[in-house]
Amino acid sequence: MSKTIIITGGAGFIGSHLVRLFVNKYPQYTIINLDALTYAGNLENTRDIEEKSNYIFEKANILDAPQLEKIFSKYNPDGVIHLAAESHVDRSILSPLDFVYTNVIGTVNLLNACKTLWGQSGNYEGKRFYHVSTDEVYGALGDTGFFTESTKYDPHSPYSASKASSDHFVRAYHDTYGLPIVISNCSNNYGPNHFPEKLIPLFINNCLNKKPLPVYGDGLYTRDWLFVKDHATAIDAAFHHGKNGDTYNIGGFNEWRNIDLVKLLCKLVDEKSGRPAGESEQLITYVKDRPGHDRRYAIDASKINKELGWKPSVTFEEGLSQTIDWYLANTEWLNHIVSGEYQAYYSLQYNR
Ligand code: NAD
Ligand code: DAU
Repeated sequence: MSKTIIITGGAGFIGSHLVRLFVNKYPQYTIINLDALTYAGNLENTRDIEEKSNYIFEKANILDAPQLEKIFSKYNPDGVIHLAAESHVDRSILSPLDFVYTNVIGTVNLLNACKTLWGQSGNYEGKRFYHVSTDEVYGALGDTGFFTESTKYDPHSPYSASKASSDHFVRAYHDTYGLPIVISNCSNNYGPNHFPEKLIPLFINNCLNKKPLPVYGDGLYTRDWLFVKDHATAIDAAFHHGKNGDTYNIGGFNEWRNIDLVKLLCKLVDEKSGRPAGESEQLITYVKDRPGHDRRYAIDASKINKELGWKPSVTFEEGLSQTIDWYLANTEWLNHIVSGEYQAYYSLQYNR
């Protein structure tokens, strides 16, 4: 069956992997990548698919409601998969309002565009608004336990507060106006094309350039890591087969303490770049903690495993190895990003 789907944030990290999956897997669909190309958006991420006949790029800002309305009436989409966001916790500490604008107001603008367009026909048959969210809305765990779909929201950072708010708006449009929606809350992603401000790509970049690896606090914070291509297949499953109005937690039951992950990363970089064992580990530097730092995240992904038959395809060791290989093979991509504006952000970040 043919469908027209708008994917927002498709020039970013996860969005570009999702757009590629959909463009290649569903040649009968038309995929519109709607992205404002902020500092995090990069058309180099989708270079390999830009000539495909079922792919269209629209440069647009989700804060511009009239522009969204024009794009929605031009393409008449059957579905929206919404990933466009400000996504970095540290930036949200420096500049919370940007997160309110994009993540909250931008999401409501998109919900309105769907409601206006789809409401005209009087029924929402075959339509779906899919919201890509995060496990950070659930707050922090102690030493044990998992986030399930019924865990109470308890966000702590401006980023997670803005994502929690956007999730509530999506549910409110379902409950109030009957908009067909699905939400997924995913754990930490890693993989190719990850912007080098987040832990894994930042540390790969710093290792390659023999710069310090700034571990926040005691390094014993725990995150649950999922390979980005596995997140894309989970979204595919939940977009097509998820139940209207439902939430799905996405994760790979793959918890790592930051310091253990960083040591594994250093070992792999040394092996792959022919350095003496232990050289990169010497770059580890403990620095001042992130304010409001959540101690531990861990996703219970049983619902999506059982109901939709989705499972991750790679182990962490395989995924991390593929990721480091990708960065070693794509130094031009990396060097392009870490010049210019990136430098200004880093001096601000580490002098806070
Ligand atoms: P990213 O920062 O790499 O990409 C965000 C994209 O959104 C960029 O292409 C950017 O240009 C675009 N964008 C930002 N503001 C926009 C605006 N106003 N209008 C249009 N486009 C705009 O983010 P990511 O890591 O790929 O995350 C994508 C989504 O997945 C986000 O909603 C994030 O909250 C969620 N998520 C991320 C992770 C993770 O580990 N990265 C985990 C769970 C959920
Ligand atoms: O859990 C899902 C979330 O994962 C997503 O919703 C966010 O968009 C995504 O950015 C990510 O958030 P985190 O804050 O967990 O990711 P980050 O890579 O920034 O940090 C991972 C851990 O590493 C965290 O405990 C903080 C720590 N850290 C991070 C950086 C950048 C460091 O110790 N040093 C660093 O320099």
